[in-house]
Amino acid sequence: MKALALKGVAAVSALSFVAASALADENANLVVNGEIDMTIRAPAPDHMENMSEVMSGWLFRSSETQALQLDDFENPGMIWVDDAREVFASESGSGGESCASCHDSPEALAGVRAVYPKWDEEHGEVQSLEMQINECVTERMGGEPWKYTGGTMVNMTALLASVSRGMAVNVAIDGPAQSTWEMGRDLYYTRTGQLELSCANCHEDNYGNMIRADHLSQGQINGFPVYRLKNAKLNAVHSRFKGCVRDTRAQTYSPGSPEFIALELYVASRGNGLSVEGPSVRN
Ligand code: HEC
Ligand code: HEC
Repeated sequence: MKALALKGVAAVSALSFVAASALADENANLVVNGEIDMTIRAPAPDHMENMSEVMSGWLFRSSETQALQLDDFENPGMIWVDDAREVFASESGSGGESCASCHDSPEALAGVRAVYPKWDEEHGEVQSLEMQINECVTERMGGEPWKYTGGTMVNMTALLASVSRGMAVNVAIDGPAQSTWEMGRDLYYTRTGQLELSCANCHEDNYGNMIRADHLSQGQINGFPVYRLKNAKLNAVHSRFKGCVRDTRAQTYSPGSPEFIALELYVASRGNGLSVEGPSVRN
């Protein structure tokens, strides 16, 4: 049994980690629609010192929840992917253009999800996929920016994830992105809130254990956006970060903030080698 962390920390009285029974099925494979073979376990990237294997959050869900992701007709997240296809083809903004005017089809953007967040030379910063989309909406189409975690945006990111499914996450962490990545790593290991917990305390030290009624995963983001049975909608990465930070009873950063972009780049890099899985299904 894995040692339960946090001995002597105030958090122990408020929250405890309990060893869980094994995964729903140790040898489960994720093949979507009988044809997209997902890599759900991979050797940990070199930069990760404390872990040898990275695992998709899908592995930690119950077999009923897992089943919903096997087929697009069962996956409720795919309904919004279809909505986004319509938006992709619809003209908007002062230029009277649609995404399709310049990008042809969503499939023409296959592979994009796998490498974001990514350094943007022109703006001199690391950009999330949402920022890149809003750059097109405002600067190229002459429209109003979409709300960072709003429905239109999250649906579009689901569409762009869906056309990259099965491709390996491969975000760059060196070169001009390195300082942002380091900021994200620092945030990941910083204990916050009344509970004095870092992301790592739960998702690195205790994955596989139970916390309250939840089976803790590694907190990977290769499956985002995520359809959650809990709120019956697609959830953006930054919304999930916000929820997790709040659970430590800390003040949280806002979606789209430089801190969350940095954290996203770092967390994405912990999943380099896993498949893009979004939209995935979680509880
Ligand atoms: C007027 C033309 C135009 C329109 C309309 C447009 N884009 Fe773009 N888009 C571009 C250009 C140019 C780039 C930059 C290409 C590059 O440098 O890789 C880009 C880049 C992107 C990228 C990043 C691609 C990559 O390889 O990193 C995404 C994602 C994207 N656009 C999505 C959208 C979406 C979604 C819409 C509709 C809401 C849209 N774009 C509308 C011109 C456009
Ligand atoms: C108190 C423990 C705790 C802390 C601290 C915590 N999380 Fe979580 N997190 C959870 C639980 C519980 C879930 C839901 C079960 C699961 O997927 O692990 C979750 C889920 C997630 C998921 C969704 C994974 C998926 O596959 O759907 C991500 C991403 C995530 N956390 C990231 C973070 C990040 C980043 C931090 C630090 C800012 C953090 N978490 C801090 C408990 C925690």
